[in-house]
Amino acid sequence: MTTPTFNISVLKGDGIGIDVTASAIAVLQAATKRVGGFELVYDYLKAGAAYYEETGVDIDPKSERSMALADAIFIGAIGLPHVRYPDNTEISLHLRIRENLQLYAGVRPVKAYPNTPQRLIHTDARKIDLVVLRESSEGLFYTAAVHNRNEVYNDNEVRETLRITRPTTEKLHDFAFRLATKRKQMGGQGLVTCVDKANVFRSIALFRKIFDERAQNNPKIKTSYRYIDALALDLIRCPWEFDVLVMENIFGDIISDLAGGLVGGMGIASCAEIGDNHGLFQPAHGSAPDIQGQNRANPLAAILSGALMLDYLEERSQVTALGDAAKLIESAVDRGFDQARIRPDEFGGDQGTIAVTNTVIELLHEA
Ligand code: IPM
Ligand code: MG
Repeated sequence: MTTPTFNISVLKGDGIGIDVTASAIAVLQAATKRVGGFELVYDYLKAGAAYYEETGVDIDPKSERSMALADAIFIGAIGLPHVRYPDNTEISLHLRIRENLQLYAGVRPVKAYPNTPQRLIHTDARKIDLVVLRESSEGLFYTAAVHNRNEVYNDNEVRETLRITRPTTEKLHDFAFRLATKRKQMGGQGLVTCVDKANVFRSIALFRKIFDERAQNNPKIKTSYRYIDALALDLIRCPWEFDVLVMENIFGDIISDLAGGLVGGMGIASCAEIGDNHGLFQPAHGSAPDIQGQNRANPLAAILSGALMLDYLEERSQVTALGDAAKLIESAVDRGFDQARIRPDEFGGDQGTIAVTNTVIELLHEA
């Protein structure tokens, strides 16, 4: 029997995207070898802000097509502050990919690990374990993903559109309920909170209306509501009370950084962006060009995004070895923090990118 093989398009991108992608792939390779039963083939594509500076395009059309045919896409980080399109916006390749491939479900786990900086004094803060589910293909990013959709009149007025559509929103909420169900099977609270501003915006009111409709099909999952401003308050007051938080695109962008901050920082903020036919995996942090190549970036967000990619591939292919490899990586990170063997520079520790990566690989082999 031939070994199931999966093609991964890799876009290292810019800044520390390059550093953390190397770490993620090294860990994925170690886990693949350790578990066996599947193979990942990596196809490195040139794209991003530095590439745009060099060539005048953010990705070449051939690479964009091959990415759409891959089994999964892995991105380091895209963007450099000084590289801009003629309209002065930053390179938005990633936003375009999200829209073109309809990656509506942005999954951003937020979990407190032991021996990491606890930003909140309350002892329950060590129980934080939630997921920000960020709609990632429309919302207020609708006009930013593709140029010329915004209405720029002149220097006095600019309008951008917040777009909510029924088909995407139905799929997003269904995803939220499936995710809560899956987490409940592993001890989760079985709770989805609809985060919105339905009291003010018609678009967001539709978002909540569809949430209520889809909740009807999921009677075993509890529901609650927060307006986005009240959620910001409660994420500081009692973040441990939440499980799955589902929200519009820009709300999710902002809240995922706030939530990342609660459990240490963005260096641990992993992310999966999932659609009906494609999956993209990337750390939720930016490209931090100021620390690029200095062996300082925390690679854990990228490494954990690699584990999310394995989970996704398992779900699509039913090759259970992929899920085993994902669990192996997750448990290595769990044990690493538990035993204070993972100590990233970002959290005041003594380990740079390479040391964190090697420690995770060491822990993989001990399992
Ligand atoms: C994120 C990032 C991106 C976003 C940027 C880099 C375009 O902040 O993934 O959260 O705004 O979505
Ligand atoms: Mg962001």
